Amino acid sequence: MAISTTVKTNLEKSSWIRKMFEQGALLKKEFGADRVFDFSLGNPNLEPPQEFFDILRDEAATRAPGRHGYMSNVGYAEAREKVAEYVSEQHGLDLFAEHVVLTCGAGGALNVLFKTLLDPGDEVIVPSPYFVEYNFYIGNHGGVCTTVPTDENFMLNTDAIAAAITPKTKAVLINSPNNPTGRIYGAQVLAELGRVIMDASRRLQRDIYLVSDEPYAKIVFDNAEVPSMLQVCPNSILITSYSKDLSIPGERIGYIAVNPGLEPLGDLMNGLAFAQRTLGFVNAPAIMQRVIARLQGVSVDTAAYQRKRDLLCGMLHDLGYRFVRPEGAFYLFPRSPVEDDVQFVQDLLQERILVVPGSGFGRPGHFRIAYCVDDAVITGAADGFTRVAQKYGLR
Ligand SMILES: Cc1ncc(COP(=O)(O)O)c(C=O)c1O
Repeated sequence: MAISTTVKTNLEKSSWIRKMFEQGALLKKEFGADRVFDFSLGNPNLEPPQEFFDILRDEAATRAPGRHGYMSNVGYAEAREKVAEYVSEQHGLDLFAEHVVLTCGAGGALNVLFKTLLDPGDEVIVPSPYFVEYNFYIGNHGGVCTTVPTDENFMLNTDAIAAAITPKTKAVLINSPNNPTGRIYGAQVLAELGRVIMDASRRLQRDIYLVSDEPYAKIVFDNAEVPSMLQVCPNSILITSYSKDLSIPGERIGYIAVNPGLEPLGDLMNGLAFAQRTLGFVNAPAIMQRVIARLQGVSVDTAAYQRKRDLLCGMLHDLGYRFVRPEGAFYLFPRSPVEDDVQFVQDLLQERILVVPGSGFGRPGHFRIAYCVDDAVITGAADGFTRVAQKYGLR
């Protein structure tokens, strides 16, 4: 088949998540879905909050001329105004509708942003481990993804990021709370990162942007806070979506919020509107814009994810697995008891437990458990995790 070499290569070497999903489908057919313990996908298992359904019904029932027509590529002004109010409150800055672009999820937002920012060969620095699609989102627009490892606790290494900046660097892309580690970057390390970026921008006489992808910002545990990334440098751009915190990933709605101090703002906002149109998104789904405008600050019951974290961490800790306890999101990224994480994942597969090797996130020697699953999946996997722990002599 005459598909492009790039796509063919990417299909072959990429997405462990997809491979595990396919293996899981086979296992479920053979053994039945309730005997397969699938932790491979970040698809939230909680249903959206009741308010979502109430508002959706209300919006769907409203008839007025033009409600289903084209609109400004950046989205309805009223919806952007509501988002701007929320972001202003959260970040202690004055954002208005003009600083917000509504997008088709965080994935759509990142593609719109990189289309706008990147010239061929421009580099985007990404701390690893990282959400694997970043590689493709950057590559889609001629950019190069430069990965910089986080430390052994998955914290940002700002010295290493500073050292990785070159005259081709256009952005540093972070993700907090993090997929796959569940870590939140603290205020101090963020402030340091902001300094590194602004110093390098001045030294290289080139705008470098701090981009933070935060679709898990509302899913935090033990009253943790996600410090404001917009506060730490004027060249900052926030990306997020409602996929995870409202459990509506299929509805494709999110946004880009640009720091009001970023200059020149007009160029960037015009570029984002152009990219949104020419990438074929045209605009974010109309009805979802109206719905989220009325749901600012609302989220699923995140305490449910905290309970799942505690259940899983308690179980794996007792079995001797080693990990950094997640502070948010719904992923755990334990060490693989053997160097070869792909082999280890195969061992778990023998127990009908589906997880994703750390190699798929640019950090071999680990594996990712997505615990946005029913509690029964976690408890059901206990025997399999125990047998594999025994095989490797844990504890
Ligand atoms: C870190 C991160 N960014 C972006 C996305 C994409 O989210 P969306 O469904 O909003 O496009 C995901 C989805 O899993 C994610 O984990």
